[in-house]
Amino acid sequence: MSNTELLFKTPADAEWWRSSVIYQIYPRSFADGNGDGMGDLLGVTQRLPKLAELGIDAIWFSPFMKSPQKDAGYDVADYCDIDPLFGDLNDFDALVAEAKRLGIRIIVDLVPNHTSSEHKLFKAALAAAPGSPEREMYIFRDGKGENGELPPNNWPSVFGGNAWTRITEADGTPGQWYLHIFDSSQPDLNWKNPKVLDFFDDVLRFWLDRGAAGFRVDVAHGLIKREGMPDIEVADTTMGGAKPESEMTLEELEIANPYWGQSGGHEIIRRWRRILNEYDDRVMAAEAWVMPLSRMANYVRADEYHQTFNFGYLETPWDRDKLEKVVTESLVEFGKVGAPSTWVLSNHDVIRHATRMAYPLDKLPKQGDGIGPNNPQPDEAMGQRIARAASTFMLGLPGGAYIYQGEELGLPEHTTLEGKYREDPTYFRTNGERVGRDGCRVTLPWEAGVNESNGFSSTGKSWLPQPDSYRKYSRDLQEGVAGSTLELYKRLLKVRKDLGLGAGDFRWAPEYQDKNTLAYINSGVLVLSNFGPDAVVVPAGEVLATTQHDLLVEGELEHDQTVWIKL
Ligand code: GLC
Repeated sequence: MSNTELLFKTPADAEWWRSSVIYQIYPRSFADGNGDGMGDLLGVTQRLPKLAELGIDAIWFSPFMKSPQKDAGYDVADYCDIDPLFGDLNDFDALVAEAKRLGIRIIVDLVPNHTSSEHKLFKAALAAAPGSPEREMYIFRDGKGENGELPPNNWPSVFGGNAWTRITEADGTPGQWYLHIFDSSQPDLNWKNPKVLDFFDDVLRFWLDRGAAGFRVDVAHGLIKREGMPDIEVADTTMGGAKPESEMTLEELEIANPYWGQSGGHEIIRRWRRILNEYDDRVMAAEAWVMPLSRMANYVRADEYHQTFNFGYLETPWDRDKLEKVVTESLVEFGKVGAPSTWVLSNHDVIRHATRMAYPLDKLPKQGDGIGPNNPQPDEAMGQRIARAASTFMLGLPGGAYIYQGEELGLPEHTTLEGKYREDPTYFRTNGERVGRDGCRVTLPWEAGVNESNGFSSTGKSWLPQPDSYRKYSRDLQEGVAGSTLELYKRLLKVRKDLGLGAGDFRWAPEYQDKNTLAYINSGVLVLSNFGPDAVVVPAGEVLATTQHDLLVEGELEHDQTVWIKL
C-alpha cells in the first residue's frame, strides 16, 4: 500500500523541459498544405494556431529530412536538408518563426543509428574497397562460410528477417556484408569511428543554429554494438534455463541484447550535451527502449540526455496496481539521477492507446506489429472511455508529458487498413505476417465531411486512407463542444499550466482511494481514477476537470473515469 510521503519534488527554478507538454507531429499525416495527400511543413504552419489553443509548449517532429522514405523518413539521405515531400528549408524557417510567435518550440528528430542507403557516405562506402576509411563509417564484415556466403552473425532485423545484407563489390564479385538493425535501406553507422562523431557534431549545430529547440534522438540505445558482435544466444528455456529479462543483471541484459543498451554509448551523449550547452536552453530526449527503468535512468544523468521516453509507462495497461507501481518506480528511479520522469501513451510506433488500452491483453500484438483486419477488432467505445481516463491520469503527473498527434481527438488505431496501402517495412519484410505501424500513422481529420480526408488536404487526398469512423472524431465537431475529448485535453493542459502541475510535488493519496481506485495529490490537486466496476463518491472540493461530463450532477465517479479536484 502506498504511503503519504512526498515522492517527488520539482527543483526550484526548474528549466522549461522539466514540466513541458510536447506534442509529436508525424509530418506525413498532420496537415497537407499543397493538396498532394502528403502532410507538409506548410500545412503545419497553417494549423499552428490550433496547437497553440491546445496549450502545448513544444512540438517534436518525426523526420522531415531528405529521404527515399523507405522507413517513412527514418532513413535519412541528407541530414541538413528538407525532403521535397515536406517543403524546403525556407518552410522550416517560416515554421520556426511562426511557432516562436505563438510560444511553441520546435524539436527535430535526429537519426544517428543509421543513414539511408542513399546517403553519400554509404554510396562512397560501397564504391570503396573492404577495409577502407569509407567502409569504416559503417559496419561491414566478411561473411562466414567457405566463400563468405553466410552472414557474420545471427542478429535479426527489428523489422523481420536478417540484420545483414551482402553487397556486390565494385568488380562484380559477391562481397562483404553490412549491418542494418532495421531495414536493408538503413545501414548502421559505426559509432566507434571518431569520424562518425565529427559528422554528427555538424548536424547538431546545423539545426541548433537554425533555431531548433533540440532533438528527439532515434534509437538512442542502439548506437554501440557489443564488442566482437557475438551471436545472440538462443535462450534455452528448458529446465528453467533462461531467465526472464526482469531477473537479469545488467551484464546479462547486455549479453542477451548485444545491440541494445550497451554501456559504452554514454560518452557520445555527453559530447552532444556539451554541444547543446553551448546554446541557451536546448534539449535532447532519448528514444531508449531499455528496461528496467533504473537502467533507462542512466540515459538522463546530469550530463547526458535531458529526458527519455518512459516506455515502461507507455506499456503499462489500464490496471490500478500496475499503474501505481510504474509511477512510483518512474519518480524514484529518474529522481535518483535528478531527472524528471516523462509520461507518454502513444507515438508513431505503437498501437494508439485509444485502441490498445481496451484490447484483450492476451491478444495484443507485440509493440510495432499493429492490428490488422485479421486480428480481433477492438471495442471502440471502451477504448474511448479508458483512453480519456488514462490521459487525464497522466496529464496531472509532474514531469514532461508527450502527446501524439490525434490523441487529443481520441483517434483510435486504423485496424482494418488493407495491405495495398501499407508502407511500413515490417509488413514487407514479414510477408504481411506482422502488419506493422501504419494503423497509428493515418492522417488527421480536421473538418468533418468537407472531403474524403475530412480536411486533412484541400483535395481530399490522403497517403493512407482514413477509416470511416474518423469523420466523427474530426476536430471541428469537437471544438467548443463540452465533454469532447478535444475540450478535455484543452482544459487539462490549461489547469496543468495555471497550477504548475508539470513542475509540481507528488504524493500518493491513500486516504482517497480503495482497491479499485487510485489517487494522488500534485500541488494541492487530487487526481482520482476509478478502475471499476462500481461508481465511487467524489470527494469534496472544486472539480477542475473530469472525463465524466455529468459528474457535477451525479456526484459519483463511474468506472474508467478520472477527475481532478482542487482540495
Ligand atoms: C525508431 C523510430 C521508428 C523507426 C526506427 C528506425 O524506433 O521511432 O519509427 O522505424 O527507429 O529508425
